[in-house]
Amino acid sequence: MNILILSRGAGLYSTQSLLRAGVLRGHEMRIVDHARCELLLGGGKPEILYEGRPLKGMQAIIPRIGASITSYGAAVIRHFEAMGVFTVTGSAALQKARDKQRTLQHLAKARLPVPRSFLTNQDSNLPLLIELLHGPPVVIKLLESTHGMGVILAENMRTAVSIVRAFQREGLTVMVQEFIREAGGADIRAFVVGGRIVASMRRQAQDGEFRSNLHRGATAVPEALSANERELVLKAARIVGLDVAGVDFLRSRRGPLLMEVNASPGLEGIEGVTGVDIAGQIIRWVEQKVRAGKLSPVSKRKL
Ligand SMILES: Nc1ncnc2c1ncn2[C@@H]1O[C@H](COP(=O)(O)OP(=O)(O)O)[C@@H](O)[C@H]1O
Ligand SMILES: [Mg+2]
Repeated sequence: MNILILSRGAGLYSTQSLLRAGVLRGHEMRIVDHARCELLLGGGKPEILYEGRPLKGMQAIIPRIGASITSYGAAVIRHFEAMGVFTVTGSAALQKARDKQRTLQHLAKARLPVPRSFLTNQDSNLPLLIELLHGPPVVIKLLESTHGMGVILAENMRTAVSIVRAFQREGLTVMVQEFIREAGGADIRAFVVGGRIVASMRRQAQDGEFRSNLHRGATAVPEALSANERELVLKAARIVGLDVAGVDFLRSRRGPLLMEVNASPGLEGIEGVTGVDIAGQIIRWVEQKVRAGKLSPVSKRKL
């Protein structure tokens, strides 16, 4: 099979891991930088040019789209969808998952548990809203944060209000969230491939840090999930429309609370910690889908 990996970093662990897994299973693998794809519209069939030549003959794409280029990345995926190529990540699902507000809105609409949160505009009465979250402390998040970089713990009302106002002055939309103290700086990452959880780990933040991102120096260990947690993870991935996803949740006094659903979850941390060949599982799942003649369920569904 001809499989393209859309990635801006050919040397990245996840890209290399997928490449190796595909080659091992006898596939023709190619890495294409989506930022350098040109999308042709009109004049018959949709086409994609890469380095001046049309991309042709592939059966599947595996998008690994970074946060800084979500919109163009989604446009590239949409073009492949229009060309009838199977995609591991649908364009609509990518955009839905990238925006924390949108993800939480969809999850909450489906009555799945999420932390109490609000979005606000310039004129809102912030102290009142923060009290509604039983804060301070509260967690303030930029909507497109990754690696914990746009996630701040505000310990008191004055700090919380001034951080939100400062972001708003910059024209950024922020989400304010109740602080789940009892999570103790830990969260759970579950990796979903084709409607199954193939690996899960618990990440523990460094001392003095509440963010459990591995990029923030957290450590991780394999972690078993309860039946309830498994069901929740699979539902969350389904609602966002992702067949391959990293679903994160916090363990709170009132049970698991979903935090985000990642459309391009990294493989390095979780493959290393759990010893599971996730890239191999993704490739095998792509084989099944393409053999069954399926387009991404997401690309076919109206979102
Ligand atoms: N409401 C919260 N209460 C407690 N800890 C939180 C809360 N929100 C986020 N965190 C911690 O901060 C980390 C980063 O937050 P997250 O929303 O996942 O942003 P990012 O997308 O940048 O990783 C989480 O993994 C979690 O450990
Ligand atoms: Mg996160």
